[in-house]
Parts: sequence; C-alpha cells; structure tokens
Amino acid sequence: MLNRLEEIKSKAIAELNSLADLRELEAWRISYLGRKGSLTQILRSLPELPLEERRVVGEAANKLKAFLEENLAEKRRRLKEAEEAKLLERAKVDVTLPGYPTPLGRLHPTTQILREVCSIFASMGFEVVEGPEVEWDYYNFEALNMPQDHPARDMWSTLWIDFETENGQRPMLLRPHTSPMQIRLMEQRKPPIRAIMPGKVYRYEATDATHESMFYQVEGLAVDKGITLANLKGTLYEFARRLFGRERRVRFRCDYFPFVEPGVEMAIDCFICGGKGCRVCGGEGWIEILGAGMVHPKVLERVNYDPQIYTGFAFGMGLERIPMLKYGIDDIRLFYHNDLRFLEQF
Ligand code: FA5
Repeated sequence: MLNRLEEIKSKAIAELNSLADLRELEAWRISYLGRKGSLTQILRSLPELPLEERRVVGEAANKLKAFLEENLAEKRRRLKEAEEAKLLERAKVDVTLPGYPTPLGRLHPTTQILREVCSIFASMGFEVVEGPEVEWDYYNFEALNMPQDHPARDMWSTLWIDFETENGQRPMLLRPHTSPMQIRLMEQRKPPIRAIMPGKVYRYEATDATHESMFYQVEGLAVDKGITLANLKGTLYEFARRLFGRERRVRFRCDYFPFVEPGVEMAIDCFICGGKGCRVCGGEGWIEILGAGMVHPKVLERVNYDPQIYTGFAFGMGLERIPMLKYGIDDIRLFYHNDLRFLEQF
C-alpha cells in the first residue's frame, strides 16, 4: 500500500508540472483528491486494513494529501498569474500605431454666412437680437402700418396658424419676414437703437432658383436723433463692400413697404452673367438682396417714439442670396436638400 502511495505521489507531481491552464488543474484535482480520486479511495479503504498497517498507511496517506493540496494551491496561484499576464498583454495599447481618423463636422453654409454678417454689423456697433418664428398678426402687420384688410398684406404670402380666438379671429402666423422684430425691440427699448435681428421666415410660395418657402432674413434697425437716408446708404454700402469685395456693383431703387417712407430696394449685379441677364437673375442682370427705408412716422408713434425727435432706418435682407452671390450657387433649393456633396464644399 505504501508503494502505491509513492506511485501516486510521483505520477501526480509529474502531471502537475505539465499542466497548462486552470481547466486542466481542476481535472487533475478531481482525479487525485476528488470524491472518486485515487488518493481518496485509499483513505476510504483504511478501515478495512489491519490495525498496525492502518496506522502507518493512514499517516502516509494524510501526509500525501496535505502535500498534494499544498502543491495544488501553489500551482493554482501560478496559473492565475500567467492568465492575468496574458490578458494584460492582449489589452496593451501600442501608442506608436496610427490612430483612427475621426470624421469632422462643419457649419452649414447659411450658419457660416450668418456669422460673417453678424460680425460685420457688430464691428459697426450693431447688437444681435433674436425673436419668435410664430408671431402675432399685430407685430407682423398691424403695428407695421398694415391694418386688417390692407392690400399690402398680400406682399407676404403668409402661412396662418390654425388657432382661433373666442371672437373667431386667427391672429397667429408663421412670420413671413423678420420686420415684426422692429416693433418688439422698440417696445422694449428707448433710443438710441442699433441692432440686427436674424432668423428663419416662412412663405406660402412656389419655389424656384431664387425662392424658397423657408429661408433666413436679417433685419436691421437704427433709431436715434438725426438719422437720415444717407446713414442707411452708407451703412449698407460699407456692408456690401466688406462682404462681396469692391468689384461688385450695388444699386438702390425706390420701392414700397408700408412701414418705411421712403422705401428702397438694394440689388447687386448678377455674378453669373455679370449683368447681361440670365436664368439666375431672371434676365435682369441684378439680384435683389434687401428691402429698406426710413422707419415710417406712424410706426414710431405706435411704439410711443416722438417722430419729431427721432428718426430711423430699417432693412431686411435674404440671407441665402449672399452665399449664392459669393460662391456662384445658381439654385437656392440646394441649401436645404441636405445633399452632402453640396454641403461638404463649404
Ligand atoms: C421684406 O420681407 C421686408 N420685411 C424687408 C424690409 C425690412 C423692408 C425693413 C423695409 C424695411 P421682401 O419680401 O422683399 O421684404 O424680402 C426681403 C428679402 O428677402 C428679399 O430682398 C430677398 O433677398 C429675400 N427673399 C424674399 N423672398 C424670398 C424667398 N422666397 N426665398 C429666398 N429669399 C427671399
């Protein structure tokens, strides 16, 4: 029996030394120390031995059991360490490898141009103010000198909101221009005022190369003592020169808007045909970019400014027409089709 124990010992230690992982170690434990393991069987058979032999074999078998358990624990510790080292090796970062490129986004061309416009006007002392896109009839028409049923309301193909008051009126709309912001600002402030008010506007209009149903406008307003049409022209000339460069020609013509007197429109010579007439400029040679004028005395009175003391100028420009001129884009609809081939050029 003692020989058998020696055999088990040398076989077990030889096997233990060649084990490669924790799974094999567990199989080894079961085959020697498990319930049916070879050493366990010897320990179980001890009661059948004669007393003297039982004592000697029992002592040797228990010694061997302790020895194997000690070796098992040591081997388990070493295998665990080796496995952890392998995991660390796999997780190691090679800082010399080139990184994965991160795709970079960019600003939409309208946002880029809006920022440029804002910074030009800011350098001339104008602040930037924003207001609501869903507007009241009062600010959009009434306070701008267009009472109910005034025919000039038809100049703005308006999208009305389906909201009815108790007396059956529908006074809410999607603003078709940024001019209501003139009233909102003058209601809140006392002169002097110098501000631009950019934002989205909406029109119930068929689209073509120069017309969208949603586009951006930038409203401008300056009110103080002694403001004249010369200030309006000077400001807008300076703006056009800074944005488009000196070679672009600028044209002012009389125009009508109920909230200014006198009213003008400003146009820039067509970048495609150089003024000869083409599809983009509708054969005219000029592209209108803004409407403007001196704030009407009735509008000033409405916000309790004395028109005998204060005068002012206002303008409203279509923002998309500016990058069209700058970059030679011949269709406004490209801006909001979200075609990356177009957008990635800016
Ligand atoms: C107005 O909207 C006036 N509120 C402008 C104004 C402000 C006049 C202050 C006087 C004082 P108008 O409808 O012309 O005016 O539009 C102004 C500019 O918006 C146009 O010159 C044009 O550049 C642009 N615009 C007009 N309709 C469209 C459209 N459908 N798509 C793109 N741009 C447009």
